[in-house]
Amino acid sequence: MTDELSSYFNDIVNNVNFHIKNFVKSNVRTLEEASFHLFTAGGKRLRPLILVSSSDLIGGDRQRAYKAAAAVEILHNFTLVHDDIMDRDYLRRGLPTVHVKWGEPMAILAGDYLHAKAFEALNEALKGLDGDTFYKAFSIFINSIEIISEGQAMDMSFENRVDVTEEEYVQMIKGKTAMLFSCSAALGGIINKASDDIIKNLIEYGLNLGISFQIVDDILGIIGDEKELGKPVYSDIREGKKTILVIKTLSEAKDDEKKILVSTLGNREAKKDDLERASEIIRKYSLQYAYNLAKKYSDLALEHLRKIPVYNETAEKALKYLAQFTIERRK
Ligand code: IPE
Ligand code: IPE
Ligand code: MG
Ligand code: MG
Repeated sequence: MTDELSSYFNDIVNNVNFHIKNFVKSNVRTLEEASFHLFTAGGKRLRPLILVSSSDLIGGDRQRAYKAAAAVEILHNFTLVHDDIMDRDYLRRGLPTVHVKWGEPMAILAGDYLHAKAFEALNEALKGLDGDTFYKAFSIFINSIEIISEGQAMDMSFENRVDVTEEEYVQMIKGKTAMLFSCSAALGGIINKASDDIIKNLIEYGLNLGISFQIVDDILGIIGDEKELGKPVYSDIREGKKTILVIKTLSEAKDDEKKILVSTLGNREAKKDDLERASEIIRKYSLQYAYNLAKKYSDLALEHLRKIPVYNETAEKALKYLAQFTIERRK
């Protein structure tokens, strides 16, 4: 990354973190600690970077963008707290997950609290704007949460199936992941009263970037380094997740390999050796295919970015960089 981009991103992250800290407060100590845990642990802050860069791209209002960015990051963290309960994961951002540290009841509550705080942050971001802008911003935010829930429900119901198709997979990751990327980019336009055409292209940029991002997340769940990633590898196999890698492998592998994979998928008693053997097979049949697919969506994101008139060139570089980072990242 160039120095220009690194200081551009640092500035955004520092400002957004300041707002997150202000929003996520409570007089009840345990609730505050459980709710704030993941923010302290780290995180890439990609959704804020997308939102503020999208706002800058069209010459938007930085202070509003910071608060809206806090809203999407707080919402993201709410989904992570609940997702780790659903996925029985113990590690996130290199630290024990909220339910491991505080127990499931408090983790559910911390999620609820963050969910409300996200709306508070968005409300503050929009303060002083006209009713139409409020309506548009809240509509996309609310819709995103509904679609994320649907995506998460699909993700879980796929655990019990072995015939999930690539189309179904893409539909599911659009919901659970890409929708919030899309909402982040769109809000960068909406809070600045951008034209419908610009908002439409921001939506498509975010959506395609998010699809690419989740495909790579699924790749890293197999080939990633647990320390670098800060979350467990192989947990997707243990939980029987139908990632694009698993779908492709199930359709291409030889019968004996398929048998091994199917017996390990969703087997909570699977030993490290079993998981490694399954992962070998997956790598062999699907790694390149999955990377190519991720690249395809990242390129689509860039195609939509090119359709937006540029007011700020650093912001344009930032959005291009994020599309490339998505493919090349190790965490
Ligand atoms: C994790 O998202 C959840 C997915 C949608 C794959 P990130 O990889 O953006 O997580 P953090 O915020 O950097 O921890
Ligand atoms: C990410 O789900 C989507 C949400 C959290 C809504 P995953 O379960 O695939 O992501 P990780 O691997 O736990 O971060
Ligand atoms: Mg999940
Ligand atoms: Mg998960």
